[in-house]
Amino acid sequence: MKIAELTAIGPAEQVVHCVEVPDIGAPGPDEVAVDMLACPINPADILQIEGGYATRPITPCRIGAEGVGRVRAVGREVSGIAVSDLVINLARDNWVAAQILPESSVIKLPAGIDVQQAAMLKVNAGTAACMLSDFVDLEPSDWVIQNAANSGVGADVIRLARRAGYKTVNIVRRDSAVDPLRALGGDVVLVEGPDLPARVASAISDATGDTGGDIGEDTSGAVPRLALDAVAGSGVVQLADCLADGGVVVNYGLLSGKPCQITADQLIFRDIKLVGFWRGKSLQTQTYAEISALYDDLAKCTLDGTLAVEVEATYPLSRISEALAHAKREGRSGKVLLLPNESSS
Ligand SMILES: NC(=O)c1ccc[n+]([C@@H]2O[C@H](COP(=O)([O-])OP(=O)(O)OC[C@H]3O[C@@H](n4cnc5c(N)ncnc54)[C@H](OP(=O)(O)O)[C@@H]3O)[C@@H](O)[C@H]2O)c1
Repeated sequence: MKIAELTAIGPAEQVVHCVEVPDIGAPGPDEVAVDMLACPINPADILQIEGGYATRPITPCRIGAEGVGRVRAVGREVSGIAVSDLVINLARDNWVAAQILPESSVIKLPAGIDVQQAAMLKVNAGTAACMLSDFVDLEPSDWVIQNAANSGVGADVIRLARRAGYKTVNIVRRDSAVDPLRALGGDVVLVEGPDLPARVASAISDATGDTGGDIGEDTSGAVPRLALDAVAGSGVVQLADCLADGGVVVNYGLLSGKPCQITADQLIFRDIKLVGFWRGKSLQTQTYAEISALYDDLAKCTLDGTLAVEVEATYPLSRISEALAHAKREGRSGKVLLLPNESSS
């Protein structure tokens, strides 16, 4: 069977290779054997391959933060999972045609769920849901602001915020990303650049039909109290400038490759808080029951169309280098997915 193998830390398209390994065999008593169907290539995968992630892999090794698969066999003590069930793996190393996993490491998904959408639930949808619930007690009609809003996480934030009744200000870095995000349900979509706080205040005021408050005054709920930052660098200062006093910036990505910037004025006089979020860590602190409940809800959102992330391209494992080069491109219209059991044609 085929797996993607990381052979060294370096440029992703050069250091990951598709190799043949023996098939997985039968699962142990409390294990399930899973044929992997779809796995997104996330920025975190690229970071890990290129040496910029929290953990540095010892090569050669398997990789791939998430994916969905179909159960081909179950051990005799497995009670909650059956052959043919679709499951996501809570652990890493998913870019493989098949794998054997402990029952406690998989989450069963409902029949009929779209496989490609299901493949993107664990990391991005889980991240969006946790960031909207864990840091600020938001009320319906509250505003949330985010950058890199046309990312997979950004799309999930827009959809989940809308379901909860929150409104979103979405910052992107190019004009061509604006209309698709409006179509997705983004209430305000702006291109990054000078005068962002004034443009945000004016757009919120237009959208709510009232004068709102000045940035820095929490007068009406029309000034965001939660900002989600995937860019780091000066992106943090810009988002913090758009928040009400006491607001929270949640940094969850480092797309600019620069350290987070925040001013003493924002921290001291305006009581802005800068915190980090990592889904990898939060998965370790949640119980299995909490994780199951979250993904049950997100799976329902996928089935009813609330969650839907664009997919730009799919690749078999045999074209892993092309897939990784594609995933690194700027200006994509959607995610790049690996289909580990699809043969190249
Ligand atoms: N902390 C966590 O637990 C966690 C979990 C999930 C994701 N993340 C992070 O969330 C971010 C988005 O992930 P994803 O899978 O949703 O991404 P994605 O769907 O693959 O899309 C990447 C997005 O990043 C944008 N981008 C890249 N560099 C940028 C920059 N310097 N300034 C502004 N935008 C930039 C791209 O914009 P263009 O379309 O203009 O190229 C694109 O919208 C990544 O940083 C990822 O590591 C973190």
